[in-house]
Amino acid sequence: MMSQTEEIKTKLDIVDVISEFVPLRQSGANFKGLCPFHNEKTPSFMVSREKQFFKCFGCGESGDMFSFLEKIENIEFPEALKILAAKAGVEIVRQDPRITNLKTRLLDLHKIVTEFFMEQLRQPVGNTALKYLVEKRKLKMETIQEFKLGYAPDSWQATSQYLKSRGFNDYELKQSGLVVEKTGGSPNYYDRFRARLIFPISDYHGNIVGFTARAISATESAKYINSSQTLIYNKSQVLYALDKAKEMTKKNNLLILVEGNMDAISCFEAGVKNVVAVSGTSLTVEQIKTIKRYCDTVAICFDADAAGAIAGMRGISLLWQEELNVKVIILPTGIKDPDELIHQNLSAWLSAVDGARDIMEYFFIKELSNRDVTILEEKRKVAKALLPWIARLTDPLTENYYLKQLAEKLTVDEGALRQAITKLKVGKNSNQKLKYPTTAVTVGKNLQSRQLSVMERILALMLFDVRLLEQAIAQISENYFEGLAREFYKKLIIYYTKERCVSLEFLRTDLKMNKNEVLESFFEGLVLLAETEFTEMTPREVAHEFDAAAFYLKNQDLSRRRTILQQQIKVAEQNNNMELANKLLIEFAKIN
Ligand code: UTP
Ligand code: MN
Repeated sequence: MMSQTEEIKTKLDIVDVISEFVPLRQSGANFKGLCPFHNEKTPSFMVSREKQFFKCFGCGESGDMFSFLEKIENIEFPEALKILAAKAGVEIVRQDPRITNLKTRLLDLHKIVTEFFMEQLRQPVGNTALKYLVEKRKLKMETIQEFKLGYAPDSWQATSQYLKSRGFNDYELKQSGLVVEKTGGSPNYYDRFRARLIFPISDYHGNIVGFTARAISATESAKYINSSQTLIYNKSQVLYALDKAKEMTKKNNLLILVEGNMDAISCFEAGVKNVVAVSGTSLTVEQIKTIKRYCDTVAICFDADAAGAIAGMRGISLLWQEELNVKVIILPTGIKDPDELIHQNLSAWLSAVDGARDIMEYFFIKELSNRDVTILEEKRKVAKALLPWIARLTDPLTENYYLKQLAEKLTVDEGALRQAITKLKVGKNSNQKLKYPTTAVTVGKNLQSRQLSVMERILALMLFDVRLLEQAIAQISENYFEGLAREFYKKLIIYYTKERCVSLEFLRTDLKMNKNEVLESFFEGLVLLAETEFTEMTPREVAHEFDAAAFYLKNQDLSRRRTILQQQIKVAEQNNNMELANKLLIEFAKIN
């Protein structure tokens, strides 16, 4: 008898499995592509259809479809088996003990509880919820079914009771994020989702890994609540509806990013199926890496409010940094979000999608509209807003094109703009003027920039966790910092001493009011760094990062002081000032 792995291998082709992650080109009998396991510019990653085997001649990684999936998804064999079995339509009969691990249990639990929620929506208890979806939000029954929307009953125990009747124990319930723990009572937890609409969140294979739940009554304080992070749910990784969107995304080589789950659902219903929702959080590098498997162009359509605009700018910056082409879908004035436009005027939405602007074009429109560029001051403002973006273009031809455009629109001399942009680029290398610094730390390469990035990292940590700020104030001297970092650290200390808390909004306003634009950009960079890097770390990793950075900066400061003392000693000796030389030597000994 064939083993299950063998059976799966006969039913699936490794070329198809890998193609979901890596674009492959046929070359002779084999296939070739850029290796996903290391960085390379020319393809050395080969796949053999005949041998059902891959190998990278750059980094040496090799194996079959199972090891490929394990490696690229960072999962264990049992999950790879499960995913590929589902793809191949092979039923896993014998319950291999390796398969019944907690992850698999949680996936099963999510599947079962989703069915429960779907059923509740169709019961009398779910009547109001169903009416809301159909009448108020104008969703079709098919859509409700397709997205597996459901209803969590208005009860503290109904959901967990049901799961217990289906064989899940207290431990599994707690690990699922579906219950909230409390002290005392039996059981010592209650259902997280009560009297809410349920939107299941899937990973891109279509496994349900978590939920977001919307209040139906407007009086409820939180509009949406979400599953907590669990073994299977990492909110910085998933994109809502990607499992449904991936096919069309690949075909069109374009993915539309919207903010809300409802926006994504309405888009699907309207037949635009290459859309995902970022679900109100800021886009992460991990999400972008996932997106890159399916396309290289992204069109952003964020809400018309200020939060949407900020999220949009951050997203654009990150997407750009990750070398995706970025477009912007512009909503007509007065429209709040895609969902609203789709239901008000479908064809207007379709043409907004069709007419998505290239990012630079969008910046030009945004900066030039409602501006009288015959006034010198206005010209300056526009140039100041647009030049940093032009400076970030990597292709010289494109840069040239937009510089010319800008010169024309402002009727200013192209040469002057060119000079300004050169200055900007110099500033960028010294890493101070760049509005959004790159998040990667370049270790060791260049001491100057290494120091700056360590300073930035530790400051970002302080913004991220107020306890670390307190620890810093107690342990870290402002002398460990230099330049902008020192200026910002000082400001932060003063601010914290006064307010006893840290509000990013407050700091932002404060910097704005002081018209300190350089510091303001520095601050925005830190926020970005904190959001992209530290939200995914465990508290332990965060603490470790903090300690390592503090240690590094302290040593830097010491060696700086030593160098200065050594020089002073040398001068004193040359001048035969032995008294001073001795004093300095004692000081030198103290810090060694
Ligand atoms: P929106 O408030 O724009 O939600 O938040 P929406 O999807 O457009 O919902 P409707 O149209 O008002 O029903 C965007 C996303 O941010 C997340 C949700 O995922 C939501 O879809 N969010 C929002 C939360 O997680 N918590 C909140 O309190 C609000
Ligand atoms: Mn909405």
